[in-house]
Amino acid sequence: MFGFSLEAGAVLLRKAVAAFIMTGCFNGEMFISNDDVTLAATTFPIPMFQIPSLLVSLRLRPLIGEDLYCTEGLLWLALSFRDFYNNLSLYEDDDDFFGIYGSADLRRIRFVLVNNRTERFWDQQMDLFTIDRGRMIAPEFHYVYNVVVGIPSGIFGSLIMNLSRFGMTVSALVTETQVTFTVGNVKIVLRKELEECIIGGAVGENPVSLVFHIHYSNTMLRSSFLSKRVWLLGQSNGSSVMLNCPVGTLGNLMFYVG
Ligand SMILES: *[C@@H]1O[C@H](CO)[C@@H](O)[C@H](O)[C@H]1NC(C)=O
Ligand SMILES: *[C@@H]1O[C@H](CO)[C@@H](O)[C@H](O)[C@H]1NC(C)=O
Ligand SMILES: *[C@@H]1O[C@H](CO)[C@@H](O)[C@H](O)[C@H]1NC(C)=O
Ligand SMILES: *[C@@H]1O[C@H](CO)[C@@H](O)[C@H](O)[C@H]1NC(C)=O
Repeated sequence: MFGFSLEAGAVLLRKAVAAFIMTGCFNGEMFISNDDVTLAATTFPIPMFQIPSLLVSLRLRPLIGEDLYCTEGLLWLALSFRDFYNNLSLYEDDDDFFGIYGSADLRRIRFVLVNNRTERFWDQQMDLFTIDRGRMIAPEFHYVYNVVVGIPSGIFGSLIMNLSRFGMTVSALVTETQVTFTVGNVKIVLRKELEECIIGGAVGENPVSLVFHIHYSNTMLRSSFLSKRVWLLGQSNGSSVMLNCPVGTLGNLMFYVG
């Protein structure tokens, strides 16, 4: 069995779960431990348009940490993110309590909502998929990133929109002082000294090249506005790239884009 409560965080969670819906990830997985709750799903690749699959992952931690419990160590559930999103929409700003409970045995999640003033009380259930449908995806959460670029959300938004007019594959050359984003012949430079970006990690004499795609630019853009700043993480050998959008105090929304 597991449970945690969210209150106002339910609004943030709904906005974050919208990223799954916008990318067409209507079904996905939820991993629950005593420390965190992770939602994950991958999009289907669309070979005709050369669109690769995208792994989206939402890790909830700080806000739910206080009363999160999971009696089974680590729990894995498969569910409809569309139903999950719709049930989160029950929460309204002046409600006093919003709790999510469930168990793998009962194959059900319960949403409990209480409003003391209006005496509104909801106890909604949604069914989980049966375990024997097997794992829908096996997300790889264990990359080690050693290069990080922080970009204010406003700048990131206009960067992504400007670049996406010229192509979907971005190459970012990271040095200690600046990041040069290139799509085709178009270059956009963000400079550290102008506070257009923060650069950290294993960036030394040799520039690091990060290559990633922006096929889901609208979702990336909307998700970036859940926080003041987003983080582009990469490896100094350029292997994999992840966009990390903090979701207020709720957790992090991650897009594995390269
Ligand atoms: C709402 O009522 C419950 C049960 O009576 C109580 O535990 C809780 O503290 C109340 N919450 C608020 C915000 O008044
Ligand atoms: C909650 O999810 C269930 C699906 O299991 C659905 O039948 C129900 O309508 C949802 N509730 C709301 C308010 O959307
Ligand atoms: C995007 O393009 C607009 C209009 O040309 C420009 O004002 C803005 O500075 C550009 N943003 C970035 C991050 O390059
Ligand atoms: C790149 O570096 C990461 C660790 O930083 C390592 O796990 C990975 O295997 C490396 N990839 C290649 C192609 O060298």
